[in-house]
Amino acid sequence: MGTTRIQHARILMIAGTALAGGLLISCSSLERTLVVAPQIPDATFTGNRSCADCHVNYTRGFASTPHARVQIPAAKPVGETGCESCHGPGSRHIAAGGGRGKFIVNPGKDPSACFQCHLETRAQFHLPQRHPVMEGKMNCVQCHDPHGLEILKPAGGMSMARADEPCAQCHRDQTRPRVYAHEAMREGCTACHQPHGSINAKMLIQPDLNLCLRCHAQVQGAGVPNGQFVIGAINHSTLVTRGACWTSGCHTAIHGSDINHHLLY
Ligand code: HEC
Ligand code: HEC
Ligand code: HEC
Ligand code: HEC
Ligand code: HEC
Ligand code: HEC
Ligand code: HEC
Repeated sequence: MGTTRIQHARILMIAGTALAGGLLISCSSLERTLVVAPQIPDATFTGNRSCADCHVNYTRGFASTPHARVQIPAAKPVGETGCESCHGPGSRHIAAGGGRGKFIVNPGKDPSACFQCHLETRAQFHLPQRHPVMEGKMNCVQCHDPHGLEILKPAGGMSMARADEPCAQCHRDQTRPRVYAHEAMREGCTACHQPHGSINAKMLIQPDLNLCLRCHAQVQGAGVPNGQFVIGAINHSTLVTRGACWTSGCHTAIHGSDINHHLLY
């Protein structure tokens, strides 16, 4: 999914105030993604540090998240404007002493706040097999904490327990411990699933045995007769013609088994 990442350099940030008069600038080239911060009439950007006085729970640790680096050029020279890229410029909120509904945007569970910038993620949630975010049954913040280090919770480089934490809330059966664990699970659910959406059934990365052959290389050459398809020291030549490894009645317990070492059931 690395290719879907938003490239910082490709994003052109436009402050809400620059759009006064309804003059919306359209994308002049496919290479750029136009990003519009939420608008708050007559408010100006004050920077992340100005939020720290009252929202230390959110500002603490925020500096090391990808959103902290989001910079709205029109906001210069107030410093980093990560908070305001999702919440809108904060000057009037601060002048009013803060408070709910006081000149600040709370995106709540609305994914369209995220789609302002993550256009490719929106496309993924329109694929035929998907988590029902567009249908309003789920939302981004169930899997991504928009504040603090936890935004990276599901992303690479974390231990499995951590990475799959959000999945476990809803998919107990696939995440519970097994007597015969499938070691692939250590890499996390995204070793096999696309978490947003996919063209393949069950949101799989690949629809067929190639899903498995990435890690279970077919043995060839020395000692293997021509035309034989050997995986894990077992001749799979006729087995692989029956369908995908997990259908066709074979490795049906792909997330791990309590009774069979070969993940057959
Ligand atoms: C990636 C977008 C994003 C960024 C960046 C962001 N927030 Fe938020 N913020 C949200 C969303 C989404 C919610 C609503 C979460 C929910 O309802 O579960 C929220 C909610 C809040 C709330 C209200 C919490 C409540 O009790 O309802 C505060 C306060 C807040 N953010 C402050 C900040 C501060 C301060 C920063 C910068 C340190 C920041 N946010 C950065 C998206 C963001
Ligand atoms: C002077 C203190 C103060 C400052 C500075 C401040 N806030 Fe707030 N803010 C508050 C208070 C108080 C609330 C109400 C929180 C509550 O009731 O739990 C609030 C609520 C919010 C909410 C939720 C609004 C809603 O309608 O649900 C957001 C989002 C928010 N602040 C973001 C920010 C951001 C971003 C900054 C920096 C640009 C900032 N705040 C700076 C005091 C402040
Ligand atoms: C103002 C634009 C903007 C908004 C709004 C925004 N993002 Fe982001 N987001 C970014 C940028 C820029 C990055 C950094 C991309 C990078 O460095 O690869 C990022 C990174 C991320 C990442 C981490 C990607 C990674 O690989 O580390 C996640 C997850 C994410 N955003 C989710 C969200 C969610 C959820 C929301 C809505 C609550 C949201 N974003 C709203 C601009 C935005
Ligand atoms: C079911 C859980 C789940 C939901 C819901 C979800 N995400 Fe993600 N998202 C993930 C996981 C897991 C990854 C890490 C993918 C990887 O490492 O291959 C990720 C990665 C990302 C990234 C990094 C780029 C990429 O695609 O790998 C962005 C940006 C992002 N999500 C934004 C969003 C936004 C915006 C929403 C809501 C519209 C959302 N996500 C909803 C689980 C989820
Ligand atoms: C907030 C609850 C929730 C979270 C968190 C969640 N899911 Fe889901 N998941 C669902 C729902 C709801 C469906 C759709 C079921 C349907 O449409 O019938 C689903 C469907 C799926 C499916 C397809 C199942 C099928 O039968 O087609 C897979 C695979 C899946 N999720 C994997 C994941 C992974 C991996 C994660 C973590 C990155 C995750 N889910 C996080 C609720 C969740
Ligand atoms: C080694 C690859 C692999 C890994 C890793 C993996 N899955 Fe799956 N998952 C599959 C396959 C293959 C299917 C389809 C099974 C079928 O159609 O019978 C599936 C199906 C599912 C389903 C649909 C219901 C079902 O059991 O058929 C859910 C939900 C699911 N996986 C969640 C997860 C979660 C959550 C994780 C991480 C804890 C995860 N998967 C890790 C391969 C994997
Ligand atoms: C991310 C890598 C990875 C993926 C993808 C993966 N596996 Fe595995 N699998 C492993 C590892 C590592 C082991 C443990 C070492 C071994 O037995 O080769 C294992 C073990 C197994 C075993 C037990 C071997 C035995 O002792 O009988 C079976 C069966 C298996 N995998 C089937 C599958 C199937 C079917 C798929 C595709 C749906 C799949 N694996 C996808 C990494 C992976």
